Amino acid sequence: MQPKPPSVIAIYPGSFDPITNGHLDLIQRGAKLFDKLIVAILSNEGKQPLFSVEERVEMLHEVVRVYPNVEVDSFDGLLVDYAAAQSATVLLRGIRAISDYEYELQMALMNRRLQPGIETLFMMANEAYSFISSRLIKEVFGLGGNIGGLVPPSVEARLHRRLDKFTNRGA
Ligand code: PNS
Repeated sequence: MQPKPPSVIAIYPGSFDPITNGHLDLIQRGAKLFDKLIVAILSNEGKQPLFSVEERVEMLHEVVRVYPNVEVDSFDGLLVDYAAAQSATVLLRGIRAISDYEYELQMALMNRRLQPGIETLFMMANEAYSFISSRLIKEVFGLGGNIGGLVPPSVEARLHRRLDKFTNRGA
């Protein structure tokens, strides 16, 4: 059995396109559990993101700078390889509803097979945010819906700027 490391480093991986208050809630709670929490943005994603990796790193920095033990980074390749390179022993993921479970179970089991020394820990999303996702935020915002209180104010401002840029293009 591996002894508990003197300092527990956890990775909170995801796309964060953009970060929502659900993600932020998990970061706040995770920051209390680990010596260091690295919020790691996947950079080689197949999906066409709304915000570039650099923009997402900036957005995350803006909202996590109040937590001294939280860092922001980006990674590509296998998550477990990145985690091992950071000497992390925990992968943190949030579960909002039963529908998240199957996907998360598959990833957790695959990651455990790849790197048995790294544990995936799940935290239940705050019920106030259990219905939100980055995808839904983008959809609702793009159609003119109110997303106030669902993303940090700095992220909402960026969404407005991004929408203005698209609206004014070619005008
Ligand atoms: O927030 P998301 O988009 O659901 O996050 C998915 C993420 C980034 C955790 C997952 O796609 C991932 O770990 N990608 C890195 C590549 C990898 O390790 N794939 C095998 C996972 S079992």
